Amino acid sequence: MFNAILVRKDGSDVSYDLEKIDKSFLSEGDVLVKVKYSSINYKDVLALQYKGGVIGDYPMIPGIDFAGIVESSSDERFKEGNNVLVTGYDTGMTHTGGFSEYARVPGDWLVKLPGSLSIKASMIYGTAGFTAALSIYNLETNGMCVEKQPEILVTGATGGVGSIAIQILRKIGYENITAIVRKERQMEIARKLGADRAVMAEEDNKPLKEGRFDYFLDTVGGNVTSYGLKRLKYKGVATVCGNVAGNNMDANILPFILRGIKLIGIDSVYVEGGTRKKLWEKLADEWSIGESLLYNEIGFEEFGKTIEQLLKGEHLGRTVLKM
Ligand SMILES: NC(=O)c1ccc[n+]([C@@H]2O[C@H](COP(=O)([O-])OP(=O)(O)OC[C@H]3O[C@@H](n4cnc5c(N)ncnc54)[C@H](OP(=O)(O)O)[C@@H]3O)[C@@H](O)[C@H]2O)c1
Repeated sequence: MFNAILVRKDGSDVSYDLEKIDKSFLSEGDVLVKVKYSSINYKDVLALQYKGGVIGDYPMIPGIDFAGIVESSSDERFKEGNNVLVTGYDTGMTHTGGFSEYARVPGDWLVKLPGSLSIKASMIYGTAGFTAALSIYNLETNGMCVEKQPEILVTGATGGVGSIAIQILRKIGYENITAIVRKERQMEIARKLGADRAVMAEEDNKPLKEGRFDYFLDTVGGNVTSYGLKRLKYKGVATVCGNVAGNNMDANILPFILRGIKLIGIDSVYVEGGTRKKLWEKLADEWSIGESLLYNEIGFEEFGKTIEQLLKGEHLGRTVLKM
């Protein structure tokens, strides 16, 4: 028997608790992993809500990512004792997830940890860090480069994806980073993370504003996305990965047809294996911001409190859950 968080649904009541289960509860897979760390992402918060739209089958172990040590494997690519991680796929949605002392997954979902990345460090990045890396990678493959010192706009600077994105951009040499925050006290935090400027997004109805930014890394969605799109310069490029500010935005066509801007959707869940491996290697090495990452480490007993903080917008940076 081992410990896991279980989400149960009874009519319109969704609740979660720490329970003792055995391995027969785990979903099918080739590789059994002794989980050491998981991390708490915005999607995990949604997974615990009625109509959160994340969990497909109840009862379910949530947790969309985890890292640990292979305990047994029928996939020849993985051997007992290998350090591995998973982000995305169906983990914590329709397949038992990472808030558990054990997890079982298909070998195709696993990434072997690069030697220089510890199990804990991999989950301080977690899905948020991987998504930040994927967003930067997409901007760089669409022209962003340090040599040109472009103007870059980043949203959700105090959250998991945004805070890691700003720190990586700074680490690899980008100097002109503007962060959008929504509270006065977050301005100082954004600057400490590496943004040169922090601004609050003001409301306006104009279809096009002065082009100020070459690249826009959006983690927030909603009308914050349209704020950035209409401020992109000619041939500007944006990525969007999040929807904390809503699924809908009041955008218009003019920035696209008058300035030739590009908007790229980021999906970290089904990224193919080669790109996953490449990005985790970058996070372990040239993009490594390991020591400077803003994080809290909690055990199962503080889980509920962290979820409440995330729901109230009182949470900062990343939280890792130690098994
Ligand atoms: N596409 C993918 O594969 C993928 C992967 C990972 C994450 N995501 C998504 O990316 C988003 C960010 O994830 P995260 O882990 O960074 O979340 P997080 O840690 O909860 O951070 C969210 C950030 O957005 C800010 N924010 C929240 N509501 C806002 C609003 N209405 N207007 C402006 N800013 C707002 C928060 O500020 P406060 O501190 O003031 O609340 C915080 O800075 C989520 O929607 C998540 O689901 C997508």
